[in-house]
Amino acid sequence: MTQDELKKMVGDLAATYVKDGMVVGLGTGSTVKFMVDALGRRVAKEGLKIVGVPTSDRTAAQGRKLGIPIKAVDEVDQIDLTIDGADQIDADFQGIKGGGAAHLFEKIVAINSKRNMWIVDESKMAPKLGSFPLPLEVIPYGSQQLFKRLAAKGLHPVFREQAGQRVLTDSKNYVIDLHLGQIDDAFRLAQYLNQQVGIVEHGLFLNVVNTVIVGYADGPKVLQ
Ligand code: 5RP
Repeated sequence: MTQDELKKMVGDLAATYVKDGMVVGLGTGSTVKFMVDALGRRVAKEGLKIVGVPTSDRTAAQGRKLGIPIKAVDEVDQIDLTIDGADQIDADFQGIKGGGAAHLFEKIVAINSKRNMWIVDESKMAPKLGSFPLPLEVIPYGSQQLFKRLAAKGLHPVFREQAGQRVLTDSKNYVIDLHLGQIDDAFRLAQYLNQQVGIVEHGLFLNVVNTVIVGYADGPKVLQ
């Protein structure tokens, strides 16, 4: 099976967890794209009635195109279930997100959700976090100074660029990726990053997820 087939498999399965009347947080990324497609089909064919709360402009545009009613996080009373992708998940279900530069909105939607589900192909599962670079969303003002502090701390920061330009998030902030190799104490690192002025949010999602669906060649596994 190709990686895209694994992503579609978990995306299709995750969409079956959405029930009539739910307010659903819609994550961001290539795996979630399959899930949103599947939800769109259910809205069109079954008349499924849901409200989607997107975590990025990309997902909002896809949802609208598919006829899924879209509301902003501040326009709903509660979010019943958020389905999102992840970049890396360890044995304790802690995760790194932000590979798609959307982790700020993803975390805001996640912490305001009753339940969180992550959908990933098997390549995202790791014994320890850190081989995937840890994304930070940072305010452009003073970001060079912040970068120097992170480098001096030995955190191997790299400004994320695309086609020679710094990547901008939906909030027009920069992304700095920390190339750490391995994170031994994710909670301690999160505490340090939370204290750094200029970091709007980091991509460590700790004690956030309730259910993980992993796509393997022999089928999906639901872990909770
Ligand atoms: C975006 C994210 C994504 O959920 C994560 O990057 C996974 O994306 P994909 O499904 O394309 O691998 O955190 O900020």
